[in-house]
Amino acid sequence: MNFENTIALVTGANRGVGRVYVAELLARGAAKVYAAARNPDSLAATVALDSARVVPLRLDVTRADEIAAAVRTASDVTLLVNNAGALSFGGALEVGQDAIDRDMAVNHGGLRDVTRAFTPVLEANGGGTFVNMLTLLSFVSAPGFSAYNASKAAAWSMSMSLRAYLRPKGIAVVNAFPAGIDTDMLAGIEASKDTPEAVVRDVLDAVAAGEEDVYPASAADIFAGWRADPKQVEAAFAAMM
Ligand SMILES: NC(=O)c1ccc[n+]([C@@H]2O[C@H](COP(=O)([O-])OP(=O)(O)OC[C@H]3O[C@@H](n4cnc5c(N)ncnc54)[C@H](OP(=O)(O)O)[C@@H]3O)[C@@H](O)[C@H]2O)c1
Repeated sequence: MNFENTIALVTGANRGVGRVYVAELLARGAAKVYAAARNPDSLAATVALDSARVVPLRLDVTRADEIAAAVRTASDVTLLVNNAGALSFGGALEVGQDAIDRDMAVNHGGLRDVTRAFTPVLEANGGGTFVNMLTLLSFVSAPGFSAYNASKAAAWSMSMSLRAYLRPKGIAVVNAFPAGIDTDMLAGIEASKDTPEAVVRDVLDAVAAGEEDVYPASAADIFAGWRADPKQVEAAFAAMM
């Protein structure tokens, strides 16, 4: 896939990885990028990347009314990056149901509902691509992020089954499994982190190459280690409590 003249939508585009997706898509020649966020007032820096090509959009991925409105506005999209995400802290023995519900609502429910709503749009536009921001924690748990791990595992499971429905419609599903990234999400957590720029470049390179699963930046080595010895990686993640 070539991003030249592509029309894209990025959820959670006001900060972190989402804003970098917008910047990189613009750099690769996108004709228009809908930058979606819960609060459009928080999109000023993203729109300032290129106010002629960036279109701000209100979108809380847990709100059906806002998803329906986004579909009406962004009816020309062929690339949609399901980037919005939420992370609640807490281990399995202490995390509350409210935190589990929140992470599930955003990371699984939001991805599902945005994908369902935009599938007819991509299909009508001749096919396209959904890029889903998952995580290595979709398949290796970090004990202190119990709700997040579960929500991203559920999102991974759904993303694989979505492929079966979307492939015949000419729509690809690309799942990205990053390691830690240096954004607000892990602020205050001592860990080695990739830059969002390195992650986004690798994901978009994989989309361009037609790959279905991508382990960007330092995730590539961790995934290789997991394939060789899953228990060793499980133990290493457990040690990060
Ligand atoms: N950072 C990491 O280490 C890491 C690693 C692997 C994967 N990821 C994934 O990468 C994606 C981007 O993460 P990030 O590091 O950029 O996180 P971040 O800096 O915490 O940003 C999260 C983004 O998601 C948005 N968001 C949260 N709830 C939302 C909702 N209900 N509707 C719409 N937008 C919502 C936030 O908007 P507000 O500003 O309105 O809160 C913000 O734009 C996430 O899916 C995350 O799980 C991150």
